[in-house]
Amino acid sequence: MGKLTGKVAIITGAAGGQGEAEARLFAAEGAKVVLTDIQKKGAAVAADIGPAAIFIEQDVSSQAQWQEVVTEALHRFGRLDVLVNNAAYYDPKPLMETDLAMFDRHLAVNVTGPMLGMKAVFEPMRAAGAGSIINISSISGTRKIPGQFAYATTKWALRGMTGTAAAEFGRAGIRVNAIMPGMIRTDMILKHDPEDNDRFEQMIPLGRAGQPREIAQIAAFLASDESSYIVGAEIIADAGLTL
Ligand SMILES: NC(=O)c1ccc[n+]([C@@H]2O[C@H](COP(=O)([O-])OP(=O)(O)OC[C@H]3O[C@@H](n4cnc5c(N)ncnc54)[C@H](O)[C@@H]3O)[C@@H](O)[C@H]2O)c1
Repeated sequence: MGKLTGKVAIITGAAGGQGEAEARLFAAEGAKVVLTDIQKKGAAVAADIGPAAIFIEQDVSSQAQWQEVVTEALHRFGRLDVLVNNAAYYDPKPLMETDLAMFDRHLAVNVTGPMLGMKAVFEPMRAAGAGSIINISSISGTRKIPGQFAYATTKWALRGMTGTAAAEFGRAGIRVNAIMPGMIRTDMILKHDPEDNDRFEQMIPLGRAGQPREIAQIAAFLASDESSYIVGAEIIADAGLTL
């Protein structure tokens, strides 16, 4: 029996990278998973996982689409135990190269998205008396890293949202926690400057970037009953980069 047997999880941004790794691991641990993404290729990931998974095309910044996702998850799998707010927009630029549209896009996906998600899953989780919400922040929300002004702003905000929601949702039996990944080998960083990536990688005490599965394992722990007394935690997983 897997550590997530009987649980149903929604994972946003699951068409690739960490979200895909989480969906695959959660399913392997016995969960039913609802993968969502703006990229349609998430459908192929869900199909590859099998009957334990479905894909729903979703822009996390749309309130109406959140209602559809929660309704469909309940309709298909009958319950809702876990939400992983994993989807994010990343266009690293310093403040003076950040225009309003770019700033607003980061806020819409990385802040409004998780806010709408937490609100949308509250009622079914409250009715069940339990739930686990996992917000994927970043070490960019723990340090002052120049060159990613809008993105860092949102990841700092998500930490505050995690703590506040944890305090508000605790009495309903809903645990809210955050993970702060360091440098993880996914499209998000691979499509940006390779020289920057090499420079960062050399600064990591373990000497390498992380694999998506290494974050998925933390998410699976937070999703499971093994973490039943962990509320409002911020788990840094960066191989010592920000020590
Ligand atoms: N890769 C890293 O080094 C790193 C480091 C720290 C934190 N993170 C965080 O980890 C999470 C996962 O990122 P990743 O590394 O797997 O990158 P990724 O680019 O592979 O995954 C992000 C996913 O979010 C989806 N997405 C973007 N906008 C969306 C929207 N409006 N609605 C729904 N889906 C949307 C993308 O299509 C993509 O599939 C993100 O929250 C990211 O900020 C990543």
